[in-house]
Amino acid sequence: MASNTRSQATTSTSDTSTTPPTAKPVSVLFVCLGNICRSPMAEGTFRAVTNFDTDHPHPLISRIDSCGTGAYHAGDQPDPRTLSVLAAKAGITTYRHKARKIKVPSDFLEFDYVLAMDEDNMIDLRDMMKRARKKGVVDARQQEEATRKVCFYGRFGGKAEDEEVQDPYYGGRNGFEIAYEQVERFGRGLLKHIEAQAAEDGK
Ligand code: 4NP
Repeated sequence: MASNTRSQATTSTSDTSTTPPTAKPVSVLFVCLGNICRSPMAEGTFRAVTNFDTDHPHPLISRIDSCGTGAYHAGDQPDPRTLSVLAAKAGITTYRHKARKIKVPSDFLEFDYVLAMDEDNMIDLRDMMKRARKKGVVDARQQEEATRKVCFYGRFGGKAEDEEVQDPYYGGRNGFEIAYEQVERFGRGLLKHIEAQAAEDGK
């Protein structure tokens, strides 16, 4: 399995000129239901667009991971259709992942971006933090902060409206190809957003 953390992401061949020296790298968590179709597809494509698993990773990215709101497939490899589409569309053949359920509250506290694929994921994620607050596992400020980090990955798709990535699990390969087109586009949008944010913060 690829490592999901970089202790220091400071080198880049192509991006250092646009990266303020003080910019703090950010961590990104992709979330779907089962963590075998959409969020691993999102993780695999974002790793590729950020060169994360190379010797010249994007300097603004410290950690990339994915998980599910459910534990149905915990420990499983990504769906073979996810891996096949990643290979066919992007030449990504080395991506490995073991499905896991989101950890409450640590994932919400540790990651800077918690990106949901669809509306159900959004609702589940927000409900998890509401329950954590009710149980006293987090305080009001932590709940508010965590909730702010949760958004649709499709917010970064470049369209006026947030886009959902539909669950392709029960359909054919075509659904996986549509999901690929979306998450690949969203990944480029997210990276632009992170770069713009860093430039803004560095002013
Ligand atoms: P994912 O797709 O949330 O994109 O990983 C699913 C995979 C498995 C199931 C549902 C959705 N399932 O019910 O087993």
